[in-house]
Amino acid sequence: MEKFVINGGVPLHGEVTVSGAKNAALAIIPAAILCRDVCRIENLPVSISDVRYMISTLKYIGATIKYIDRSTIEIDSRNVNSYMISHDMTKHLRASYYFIGALLGRFGKARVAMPGGCYLGPRPIDQHIKGFEALGATISVEDNAIVEATSSKLFGAPVYLDIVSVGATVNIMLAAARAEGMTIIENAAKEPHIVDLANFLNSMGADIRGAGTDVIKIRGTENLHGCTYSIIPDQIEAGTFMVAAAATRGNVLINNVIPKHLESISTKLIECGADIEEYDEAVRVSMTERPGKCNIKTMPHPGFPTDMQPQMAVLLSMAEGTSLISESIWSNRFRYTEQLQRMGARITVDGQIAMIHGVEKLKGAPVKADDLRAGAAMIIAGLCAEGRTEIEDVMHIKRGYENVVEKFSNLGADIRMVYSVDPFDINKVG
Ligand code: UD1
Repeated sequence: MEKFVINGGVPLHGEVTVSGAKNAALAIIPAAILCRDVCRIENLPVSISDVRYMISTLKYIGATIKYIDRSTIEIDSRNVNSYMISHDMTKHLRASYYFIGALLGRFGKARVAMPGGCYLGPRPIDQHIKGFEALGATISVEDNAIVEATSSKLFGAPVYLDIVSVGATVNIMLAAARAEGMTIIENAAKEPHIVDLANFLNSMGADIRGAGTDVIKIRGTENLHGCTYSIIPDQIEAGTFMVAAAATRGNVLINNVIPKHLESISTKLIECGADIEEYDEAVRVSMTERPGKCNIKTMPHPGFPTDMQPQMAVLLSMAEGTSLISESIWSNRFRYTEQLQRMGARITVDGQIAMIHGVEKLKGAPVKADDLRAGAAMIIAGLCAEGRTEIEDVMHIKRGYENVVEKFSNLGADIRMVYSVDPFDINKVG
């Protein structure tokens, strides 16, 4: 079993470089099969497990992958020959369902098992299905386990999303890029990775306008071709280092970021007393005093990202005063607060609202990573806490943070990965 062991209390200092955006990569990798050609993808976070699973899935359906360097691959999708993806592959991550849109665009059919991923509450796909059906596909969901999509031809159409959904926006864009005529997605998601996917598809010869606003217009074409594309920096990884720098009362220069994508996070950190300097492609975050309280409501972009609320909750756990976090995207995103309570945080959760009474200090404790961002929050808590913190279930963290131990170590953190045997593992008892 892998664990992270952290001896806390060391302010972070130095420089860190953020990797390519996980959520953009997870949309762009399947998008590459929309052409029968070679796409070169740069600034790809190759070593995170979510990306590795997506690459394995590409290989399984017939694509050839060439590793050029530590963050660049070439995807040759000329020989992609299968439209079926089983549960063994999709169970690892949510974004595996982007293969439905991509295979539908490529072959006019897809048979893909329902996706896995972090449990943050119910994760329906009704808006994805609504979009595919609007384009003329017939969708059946067998035993809530396999999605089958078929169409003799896809035609562009208007699609109004009843709820702002990143996943549905991506999936509809993928299928619509190869449909005949114009698709207009209204009430579309505006996250940076939606814009990145649109830019990638446009580099392949697609005609997509309006990404980043809530109306996206996609004029489909059969003539997509290979391209070279560099993925944007990861907004959430950058935000995680920003919060870690402030929470440990350190001073860190975070390189390879797009400051505009970080505004909602910067604003809240400044409200808590952090100093933030913005450069063209970097931000410096420093904090000397105990943080002040603030209230946060998670919202779709450009609001405060739900994927940053566990990390901010750690900072607010040590703030002077009482803060409120209101979670408006996921119904079950406060499980990590139980772990923080073990470290001395005073948090009460009532439905979608967490009330955090700041304490002077957190104390090291054995905790676990309930999901990817909860795991990032545990790292920050461990870095701030007095004494030793051991984090179990770090596989969740490795889904989305590249070289996380090295990156924090380089900032002066006392963090290491250890392998341990569970003495109570009943399979090992003779
Ligand atoms: C993506 C991100 C995830 C982030 C989330 C919100 C990826 C790979 N994951 O997840 O890290 O937390 O955006 O920013 O990019 N919904 C429906 N019906 C649908 C689809 C969604 O009701 O058909 C609901 C969901 O249950 C949720 C809300 O819409 O309450 C937002 O979900 P969505 O934006 O689709 O999140 P994901 O794309 O799964």
